[in-house]
Amino acid sequence: MSLLIKNGRIITANDDYIADIFIEGETVKAIGKDLPFNAEKEIDASGKLVFPGGIDPHVHLDMPFMGTFSSDTHETGTRAALHGGTTTVIDFVLQQQGHSLHEALDAWNGRARGTAVGDYSFHMAVTDFNEHTKAEIKQMVEEEGITSFKTFMAYKGALMIDDRQMTALMQEVKKQGGMVTVHATNGDMIDYLIAQNKAAGNLAPLYHYLSQPEVTEAEASGRFADIANYTGCPAYIVHLTCEGALNAVRNATRRNQKVFVETCIQYLLLDASLYERNFEGAKWVMSPPLRQKKDQDTLWAGINQGLVNIVATDHCPFMWQQKLMGKDDFSKIPNGHPAIENRMELLYSEGVHKGRITLNRYVEVACTNPARIFGMFPRKGTIAVGSDADIVIFDPQEKHVISAATHHMNVDYSAYEGWELTGKVKTVLLRGQIAIDEGECLVPRGYGQFIKRKKVNAFI
Ligand code: URP
Ligand code: ZN
Ligand code: ZN
Ligand code: ZN
Repeated sequence: MSLLIKNGRIITANDDYIADIFIEGETVKAIGKDLPFNAEKEIDASGKLVFPGGIDPHVHLDMPFMGTFSSDTHETGTRAALHGGTTTVIDFVLQQQGHSLHEALDAWNGRARGTAVGDYSFHMAVTDFNEHTKAEIKQMVEEEGITSFKTFMAYKGALMIDDRQMTALMQEVKKQGGMVTVHATNGDMIDYLIAQNKAAGNLAPLYHYLSQPEVTEAEASGRFADIANYTGCPAYIVHLTCEGALNAVRNATRRNQKVFVETCIQYLLLDASLYERNFEGAKWVMSPPLRQKKDQDTLWAGINQGLVNIVATDHCPFMWQQKLMGKDDFSKIPNGHPAIENRMELLYSEGVHKGRITLNRYVEVACTNPARIFGMFPRKGTIAVGSDADIVIFDPQEKHVISAATHHMNVDYSAYEGWELTGKVKTVLLRGQIAIDEGECLVPRGYGQFIKRKKVNAFI
């Protein structure tokens, strides 16, 4: 199969120009003005933006969590991602305490292989670091192409590791050429505040928010950065939400340390006033919780300062019936919200269209940096000769409205219901195949490939 995309405005993290793209098989073969190739199919992209397929490095598909499973499978989740212009996702494998990393990987492979529609990779969440786990780190990096290791400083009693395990894990991951990523909030403090609220009869979703104040995140982010600095391990903070936490990262730069930062689309666009809607607030119960308007300003500024490197989603959807598990107790509401399909269009409309970030910055934080930081560049994350032909053709003018009635995620509500956006994904290519065209998915279940990742380059 060969394909020619003609006259699109090609945007990468660095460039902005009008040209043709010639694709043969799975990769880009040539880029230039008036390319002299005959292709089996031509797409006229005049007046459209053409950017690399989005990469969402933080999603939870079909994940056992808080007594249930997140409601998007690898099939439905990656298909919804494609509809929204995201061609590759990185999903989290969760080690079960008392069990091995390989057991967890087998379970995730069993659910994702042959079912994913879009490309995917895995982070390995280490929830129990011991001598046995230590020996598996090298195997993950060298044999499985899994080079990032997720840790939780929260979810005490379920996923949380202590600082002793964190230090030892970082030493080993550094040695093997990987990166440690973290959910950075103070699990002991949160555990106590939840218990205190419950004892006082404060059971509504609002108290989820009030049990995870900004200080819990600022403190843990600083502690994580300190341990990473001591061990010399490449470090990355997932779903950073607030000024206090970003200042901990800013502070680390003063000793010449680089801590990579991911925020998620919801922390840029939504705020904690949503928790005042009684139980409806459960739609946005996630950890960390939504914050204040001033934190949104901090995060937009952080993107433009180069301190916030990635905008992901932490997509972790639950049906309304599942959210009702916490009807009488906020601590039983499954944590997470759906966004995998909306990220690229929301960030374009609210970021680029409203003048908060440039087009190049948009591609950098949504496509290129996830590939660079997680060892997939230049195969993924850019439009270049030799790269996978993962390409989005985007109409920057078309308006549309987000609704659960029309989205493709397997969840019966939208966290952005009724939002009117400017800019729409029209056509999406994944490895040279037209995956989405005018709202229709044209690649089958199982088309998605597992992407093995390279060792980490900590100086991106
Ligand atoms: O609320 C969230 N974020 N759910 C998913 C698990 C996590 O902490 O990322
Ligand atoms: Zn076991
Ligand atoms: Zn988390
Ligand atoms: Zn998450």
